[in-house]
Amino acid sequence: MMNALEALRRDLSSDEERSRPFVTVTFAQSLDGSIAAAPGERTPISGNESMVLTHQLRAMHEAILVGVNTVISDDPQLSVRLCAGSNPQPVVLDSSLRIPESCALMTSSTCKRPTIMTSRAVSSEKRRKLQVLGATILQCDENEERKGLDLKNVLFNLRQYGSVMVEGGREVISTFLRSDFTDRVLLTIAPKFLGGMSCYSGGAPEERGRGHPKLQICCLETIGGDIILLAKPEPRELRTMPRLEKLAMAARRVHLGEKLPRGILITLDNALSTDSLRDTSTNGGNHVEDLVR
Ligand SMILES: NC(=O)c1ccc[n+]([C@@H]2O[C@H](COP(=O)([O-])OP(=O)(O)OC[C@H]3O[C@@H](n4cnc5c(N)ncnc54)[C@H](OP(=O)(O)O)[C@@H]3O)[C@@H](O)[C@H]2O)c1
Repeated sequence: MMNALEALRRDLSSDEERSRPFVTVTFAQSLDGSIAAAPGERTPISGNESMVLTHQLRAMHEAILVGVNTVISDDPQLSVRLCAGSNPQPVVLDSSLRIPESCALMTSSTCKRPTIMTSRAVSSEKRRKLQVLGATILQCDENEERKGLDLKNVLFNLRQYGSVMVEGGREVISTFLRSDFTDRVLLTIAPKFLGGMSCYSGGAPEERGRGHPKLQICCLETIGGDIILLAKPEPRELRTMPRLEKLAMAARRVHLGEKLPRGILITLDNALSTDSLRDTSTNGGNHVEDLVR
């Protein structure tokens, strides 16, 4: 059976046409879902073997993206050091250019200078200062519903990269998981409890109403005592619907000749393969399963 790294490598090299980069969200958490002992506290979570895996993942992606709070609290280098391979392009989401000029990304000789995605409202003086230090500044639309940059526009501005690894922190992970722009999630779960900052926030009330992310597991393995999980998010339009409604919707759409996105077909297929609906849901002698295929 393929391990998580091999499976992700295969997914990354698939020739599926996309208008944006392939997005992998990856982070390390404790058994209680903490990604840091406390907000803003840099906390080693995973073991050495999983750290090597993180660096292999970095080497597999063309860009690596974090939120500005992670740069402020952890001062990461976002480079490949524990395996062979080239450094991905660091990208920081930073609406008001809070990134410290003294951080490793801006100063270390071993780091690539970052691409900073910021809002259109930042002053040109602030932009120039960081540009002189080597950063690339790209101005993006802001999200209309809540604080932060609009992910669709961020990814449009990153379209020159085939793949982006999203490495944290909690706000950025949560926004990507709630969006339609995450292709895979690679999660490291360390067998410990931290009682700290949870990996996920539910978002604004209108976002909660749209349902929370749900994952389909593709690979599960242990590496050096940590659990590694590769998964794909369930398409957003399926999150809030009860199962029977989902099946009826898909059957109706297939019946009308619509070609459904592959993600939806896989979700429905998985549901049907374990579900009692397989025996009871018939339509003119056809199993719903036949209609969905
Ligand atoms: N365990 C792990 O794998 C891991 C990995 C990385 C980080 N961490 C931890 O995560 C913590 C930091 O997480 P955090 O939630 O405070 O901050 P974060 O996710 O690193 O950064 C969030 C900030 O990014 C900016 N941003 C701009 N557009 C955004 C968008 N569309 N969605 C989300 N953010 C956007 C916002 O600041 P502006 O409004 O100023 O733009 C926002 O406050 C630290 O404690 C760090 O140690 C853990």
